[in-house]
Amino acid sequence: MDRDKTFSWLKAERLSLADFLDDLGAHEWETDSLCPGWTVHDVAAHLTMSTRSTLLGTIGGVIRARRLPGDGAGEWAGCPVGVRRSADRRQAGRAMKDHAERFARVARGWDEAAEGYDACFVPRFAPWVEAAVEAVTTSEPPEGPVLVPCCGTFPELDALIEHFPLREIVGIDLSEGMVRRARERAAPWPNVSVVEGDASTLDPRWSGRCGAVVSVFGLQQLPEPELAVRSWVTALRPAGRLSVVFWPDVTELDGPFALMKDVLGRHLPPGDGSWEERLTAALTAAGAAVERDERVPYPMSHVDAPTVFDAYVRSGPLRALATARGEVFVDRLREEFLSRAPAGEWHHRPHARLIVACRR
Ligand SMILES: C[S@@+](CC[C@H](N)C(=O)[O-])C[C@H]1O[C@@H](n2cnc3c(N)ncnc32)[C@H](O)[C@@H]1O
Repeated sequence: MDRDKTFSWLKAERLSLADFLDDLGAHEWETDSLCPGWTVHDVAAHLTMSTRSTLLGTIGGVIRARRLPGDGAGEWAGCPVGVRRSADRRQAGRAMKDHAERFARVARGWDEAAEGYDACFVPRFAPWVEAAVEAVTTSEPPEGPVLVPCCGTFPELDALIEHFPLREIVGIDLSEGMVRRARERAAPWPNVSVVEGDASTLDPRWSGRCGAVVSVFGLQQLPEPELAVRSWVTALRPAGRLSVVFWPDVTELDGPFALMKDVLGRHLPPGDGSWEERLTAALTAAGAAVERDERVPYPMSHVDAPTVFDAYVRSGPLRALATARGEVFVDRLREEFLSRAPAGEWHHRPHARLIVACRR
């Protein structure tokens, strides 16, 4: 059976399971299931294990879940066990639902943005893509596949195929719309494939096997970037190379990116960019030696401010937010953005951050 289809069915199943779990009452959690000796709670704990859990991890998770009422160690002070247990479960069900919903929202945003992204952003981001690929090709990485987490429409592919015409190259992206375009781009090469899925925790089948991992402008979108880079290092063989380019919280002091950040900052709670400072430590802890950590600027030009705004909202990272918050919100943003933007062509020079590391 097609692996990607299986994973997208799993994703849909999980979303509806999370919906179902969220509505269960305390007595329903306690009810015996059709599996002798297992309550509904035990079965739910089993079913909600990640697709990437090992058998041992799954069994451990179920045992931990079965111990919840009586283990005492984690008991909440002054909270009756029964209350704590059902609160625990509701919280776990809700966290899972939030997580799945967040991913579904991000994926849908990029599905809708894919066509415009390819036309508007891919050509403008090309110098950073080239820099990221060059960082793993200046010296030949060890043998093994090359992974490209958050590949989007796969602009990394042209440069990668030039250097690694015979290697297995695998793009991974959450968005079905992006994956469709990436597969079109990859079609001429039998050694290239694209997987639809979450790239923040790589499938254990890659562990210690890959020659290189290259990721451009995906890291800053992941919920836990430090965990993601750790997972990417784990995929590498000794001497395998990692090259990551991402947008830091501050990309420029003046220009459309800075203005958009400022305008958004008036309407949204501030994001937590503290992970940026912990990235190199996370890489080192995962067993990599950081070789480069640089801010890399390239020039960009736009026809005018309304064009940049529309590209951001329709074909870029704001698509998901715009869909979630609706037209009135977007109109207010546009008004504020345009009232402070210069007239005519807009040139700027944003900095991305490039980190290159080598697995020890
Ligand atoms: C700005 S695009 C970058 C695409 C491409 N690497 C480039 O340089 O043009 C970011 C991509 O990250 C993907 N993405 C976001 N969260 C993801 C996740 N958890 N797992 C995999 N891909 C994700 C989005 O679907 C989108 O295609």
